[in-house]
Amino acid sequence: MTVLALETSCDETACAVVRDGVVRAHHVASQVDLHAAYGGVVPELATREHLRHWQPLCRRTLAEAKVGVEALTAVAATQGPGLPNALLVGLKAAQGLAYALDRPFIGVHHHEAHLYSPWIGGDPLRAAFDQFEPNVSLIVSGGHTMLVFVEGELRHRVLGSTLDDAAGECFDKAAKLLGLPYPGGPVLDAWAAEGDPTRFRFPRPLLGEANDDFSFSGLKTSVRYHVRDHPELLRDRGAVRDLCASVQAAIVEVLVAKTLRAAKRLGVRCVTASGGVTCNRSLRAQLAAGCAARGLRLRLAERALCTDNAAMVAVLAGRLLERGAPPTSLDEEMRPGWELAGEPKANRP
Ligand code: KG4
Ligand code: ZN
Repeated sequence: MTVLALETSCDETACAVVRDGVVRAHHVASQVDLHAAYGGVVPELATREHLRHWQPLCRRTLAEAKVGVEALTAVAATQGPGLPNALLVGLKAAQGLAYALDRPFIGVHHHEAHLYSPWIGGDPLRAAFDQFEPNVSLIVSGGHTMLVFVEGELRHRVLGSTLDDAAGECFDKAAKLLGLPYPGGPVLDAWAAEGDPTRFRFPRPLLGEANDDFSFSGLKTSVRYHVRDHPELLRDRGAVRDLCASVQAAIVEVLVAKTLRAAKRLGVRCVTASGGVTCNRSLRAQLAAGCAARGLRLRLAERALCTDNAAMVAVLAGRLLERGAPPTSLDEEMRPGWELAGEPKANRP
């Protein structure tokens, strides 16, 4: 089974070719530099970039995979959630390709793709669904933060999600308040590496609450007030490093504690994590330490697959087809607000 997938839900144009669970080639055209000038993603610009990039990216990926379009078994794309017009580009391109080739089309849920991405690993990257076991999964990205109970393969329900800002958003906004360049998450991570996480005490929202929800806007606000009341800190590189480390410690502590607590409550032996924030070195280290201390197996998405990519979309589409899922109609439209099973509508950003 050979699947070509496109991912255009936000600011990365991505294409992948996966054959029998093995990632033959995958490419991501990032728009980070373009949006950096505006300090955030500009949807109209993202859409234009997707239009510009998807065809050359497909050609390049197919050539590298040494796969001709006639050899494709199916075509897939992210159908939602995401920026409406951005989604539209990848979805309609993939549906058009499926129509022209007379192959099945699979519309993939972006977070479902993240959810199963920790099962892709090795060199070359390949899906290891034969090793699947029930798990509690943390999805942490710029747009979403959620805990999901993955009871069986392709059987999952959301336990809790963020009530306001996502963890990645909190990293990005805190970094901006500390005067760091866009995109804030990775830059804050780098500065935090040399800082003292105990120098400043920021709130750990909802840490003690008996639920699986998150809330990060209060933490962001407390960073705002702290730098407003102590502007001199921003002129001291050492203090900025300590602020970064302290903000990161607060976010990571909440994410790790709530994930481990849910795993214990549900009695699973495995924890997984995916999404852009899973690149964060402290989060990776703290999850590893917490899981080791409790005898839990930890599967973190590979760094290259933490941020948005099409390999996770192609792998999931292939698996869905293998498991007998029906193709998605070529008439189906994008689903910008598509919820994951069990995700409360009210929590959707
Ligand atoms: O999954 P992703 O690529 O896009 C969404 O679907 O949102 O995640 C992007 C988010 C951004 O907020 C970015 O700042 C954050 O992931 N991020 C990080 C790190 N690398 C990326 N946050 C903290 N530390 C990092 N190293
Ligand atoms: Zn994502």
